[in-house]
Amino acid sequence: MVKRKTCVFISGRGSNLKNLIFHSRDNNFPIKISLIISNDKNAYGINYAKKFQIPFIIINTKLRNCENKILLNLKKYKITFICLAGYMKIISSSLIKKFNKRIINIHPSLLPKFKGLNTFSRMLKNKEKKAGCTVHYVNEKLDSGITITRKSFFIDSKDNELLLKKKTQILEYQAFPEAIIKIFRNN
Ligand code: GAR
Repeated sequence: MVKRKTCVFISGRGSNLKNLIFHSRDNNFPIKISLIISNDKNAYGINYAKKFQIPFIIINTKLRNCENKILLNLKKYKITFICLAGYMKIISSSLIKKFNKRIINIHPSLLPKFKGLNTFSRMLKNKEKKAGCTVHYVNEKLDSGITITRKSFFIDSKDNELLLKKKTQILEYQAFPEAIIKIFRNN
């Protein structure tokens, strides 16, 4: 199988990145992680890049040439697919256009509900019955692209923000690889 050269964008802990790295080591998994981009030099996830010897770059989104740096590196590593795994910055519209339908994101809610930040506190405040995660294509509107996979669970009366996050992330570790397999099975 020819694996898609993939770049994973992160901002923090990188547990989804770690999960994708493990999956990508399987010969039958459709992507190879060839590059990791973090907008935070202190993101814990960078350790996985180092541990698994995957090239990584740190970008400073406040700098004007940051977009150029991203594009140059995507080209350098021949990237054809992008996964946003806890990347907390908006992707530029030129990058979205260049990688049309080849950028996916994981979001910790059942989209279209609770786009944006602070999903768990808003869910609890709203007395939602269900929580979960969504993997979707990235378009120019925040958390609004076509859904690829969603996974849900019933919220328990004892659930707080931390428990919701933990339960959601367990589902994320299934949903993200599943979504990737689904995309490339159809291509
Ligand atoms: C994940 O739960 C992901 O759904 C969320 O950030 C977390 C990153 O965790 N993404 C967003 O909120 C994007 N709007 P990780 O760094 O451990 O993978």
